[in-house]
Amino acid sequence: MNNNIKNICVVLPTYNEVGNIHKTLEKIFLNQTVLHDYKLSVLVVDDNSPDNTAELVRDLIPKYSGLTLMSGEKKGLGDAYKRGINYALKNLKADLIIQMDADGQHDPGLIPKFIGLAKNYDVVIGSRFVEGGSTPYFSSYRLLLSKLGNFLVRYLGGAYVLRDCTSGYRVIKRELLERCQFSSFPTRGYSFQSWLICELLRQGATIKESPIIFAKRETGKSKLSLADQLEFFLNIVKIRFNNSEDFLKYCLVGSSGVIINLGVYYYLTRFVSFPITLSSPLAIEISIISNFFLNNFWTFKTRPTKKSLQIRMLNFHLVAGVAGIINYLLFLVLVYLVNIYDILAVVFGIAIGIIFNYAGNSLWTFRKEIKKPLYIGGKDEKE
Ligand code: GDD
Ligand code: MN
Repeated sequence: MNNNIKNICVVLPTYNEVGNIHKTLEKIFLNQTVLHDYKLSVLVVDDNSPDNTAELVRDLIPKYSGLTLMSGEKKGLGDAYKRGINYALKNLKADLIIQMDADGQHDPGLIPKFIGLAKNYDVVIGSRFVEGGSTPYFSSYRLLLSKLGNFLVRYLGGAYVLRDCTSGYRVIKRELLERCQFSSFPTRGYSFQSWLICELLRQGATIKESPIIFAKRETGKSKLSLADQLEFFLNIVKIRFNNSEDFLKYCLVGSSGVIINLGVYYYLTRFVSFPITLSSPLAIEISIISNFFLNNFWTFKTRPTKKSLQIRMLNFHLVAGVAGIINYLLFLVLVYLVNIYDILAVVFGIAIGIIFNYAGNSLWTFRKEIKKPLYIGGKDEKE
């Protein structure tokens, strides 16, 4: 492992953090007193915050010699990180990049510990979901969102070895960032974070999760918008496409199933005068069976498995059943509790149904028998 780390740069995106930024900078630079072998710098990436965060930062530059300010147009957290990390790698010659929130939720006092861990790992994640980590101030909605997001990134994005894939507190080595080509990620919002972690794993990064307590925001409010949340869910599907052809094949098979279902139903009711109450379940069953065989002999044909064909077929039916129930329940919740337009609810139900279906079949029915996971360490060892 290469340990030629000298320049460490904290990339700090800000949007309306005038009440927090000074304290955060103060605490970050305090670490320089113990980090004798390193040069610590901070790059604030502010997107023309209307509360004049940038003006305050500019006034602080004489006080902190390692402080740099970058301003730009607001295009989202991911876009700010792309610009900031690029600048830190090229102009500040950073060997190690630290991603962090500027609002006091991430404890800057952990920086020396994380740098210590980075001697043995390519990436260190300040993790809220490993033993010792927590989110004491999260609302139940925010916790649910975070857990759901993590579940999807882990099981659909391929980052199942990690517990906190969306954390905003991370230390990443230069070399790995360069390999990732993060500037071309198709995401501008918060989902940049999950794309980045999946890509780092794909590039073979060794990752250490170290517990953090996700503190209370000092002042101001979260910038996580509904658009960011929607982008996040769309992005999961994109990560899937990017990671493998399997999901695309799976969707093609599913589409063929819809056509078969319709075709069989049409044939039974129009040509052989079968009653419709029997034609529909028969058509569904035939389409499930045809989906199963296409997935078994095409989509997942290269996956080594010990299961017999019968067991796989049974698993496949169970997944289809549970996915159908999830689809229906989500539809009911969206229409009756969230009160959204029913056609949109059907679309959401189908989308989540497909994702569950894929996750269930990919991770259970056609599960690849792998010997050893890539990952090293989950619990925090004493340094
Ligand atoms: N420049 C810039 N542009 N900064 C932004 C933007 C933007 O569009 N949006 C947010 N920020 C800054 C905020 O000012 C803050 O310093 C940091 O990015 C994180 O934003 P918060 O609004 O504090 O996010 P959060 O606390 O709700 O979300 C946390 O959890 C997420 C996952 O659950 C953060 O840690 C995220 O990084 C993390 O992905
Ligand atoms: Mn925050």
